[in-house]
Amino acid sequence: MFRIALLASLAAVVVTAGVALAAGNPAAGKKVYAANGCGACHTFKPAGSKGTIGPALTKVRLTADAKRAKQPLTTFIRMSIVKPKAFVAKGYKPVMPSFAKLSKKQLDDLVAFIAKG
Ligand code: HEC
Repeated sequence: MFRIALLASLAAVVVTAGVALAAGNPAAGKKVYAANGCGACHTFKPAGSKGTIGPALTKVRLTADAKRAKQPLTTFIRMSIVKPKAFVAKGYKPVMPSFAKLSKKQLDDLVAFIAKG
């Protein structure tokens, strides 16, 4: 009995840690956003940026475009950063450079920052 309870709580710890890792750290993502000049082209309130070359990164807009691209929100945001030409937002030119050179951690953090809104 005790053993089963122990195993169950261990499994819960492993699952929780896995989710936390996959989710990224929004505060660290804010620095990645600033360091890579995303704000020069995007308006995004949590970053205080006011660029207008690309769309404003609001939750309403990103959720709608993720739906159009038939992807979950975080998958869509990640794809938009790594392969911007795979889905070009309506009314905008495909001028966003790819940021595929970012590390996995930088990407996880950046995606978490943008998805949090
Ligand atoms: C040179 C200007 C420019 C820079 C720099 C830039 N973007 Fe973009 N971005 C755009 C444009 C233009 C679009 C719309 C066209 C498209 O979808 O490719 C876009 C689209 C997006 C989208 C999808 C929006 C939607 O609703 O479809 C996301 C998310 C995004 N950018 C995030 C970022 C992040 C994060 C960075 C920094 C790592 C960044 N962008 C840097 C110009 C830029």
